[in-house]
Amino acid sequence: MSLDSRSFRKALGSFASGVTVITAIDPETDSPVGVTVSAFSSLSLDPPLVLFCLGRTGSCVSAIEAAGRFAVNILADDQRDISARFAGPVDARWRDLAWESLSDGSPALPGALTVLECVLTRTIEGGDHLIFIGEVQTILSRDGARPLIYQGGGYLDFPLP
Ligand SMILES: Cc1cc2nc3c(=O)[nH]c(=O)nc-3n(C[C@H](O)[C@H](O)[C@H](O)COP(=O)(O)O)c2cc1C
Repeated sequence: MSLDSRSFRKALGSFASGVTVITAIDPETDSPVGVTVSAFSSLSLDPPLVLFCLGRTGSCVSAIEAAGRFAVNILADDQRDISARFAGPVDARWRDLAWESLSDGSPALPGALTVLECVLTRTIEGGDHLIFIGEVQTILSRDGARPLIYQGGGYLDFPLP
């Protein structure tokens, strides 16, 4: 890479974003998989499309592709522990964690600000990452909660109202 990778990461880290956990059921094992992702975006209103980017070698890639569906759990500001958990060791991600099954079977994390139930429509290569595009089928929202915000390698505290 011609750019210095530390400068590149630092520059990208200046962009504040929400935090999601992308979840799916691995059809091979019938077990839930999930990973913390901040590279999430709306893509289209009609049809209602969203996208997220995941490292090509990520532990959840094959399960999400095989499932053909996934859930986007947009985290609330009291879910830093969930963000850290789903970025940590794979075998501990679901340990002692309650979760709910959405109508299509994808796992929803209780306490999330919003959950989008999606059908995977396309996967596109993007350098060392993959871009997953999904069509939103249903939306669950938690009223009154605020989003978790990530910037510069840490979480931002909301000022008190
Ligand atoms: C706040 C936060 C945001 C992250 N965003 C992404 C992301 O957008 N894409 C990605 O591939 N990994 C992201 N990661 C790293 C993953 O959560 C995970 O640690 C890494 O991809 C390894 O995943 P794996 O063990 O499932 O392979 C993020 C981690 C944190 C803590």
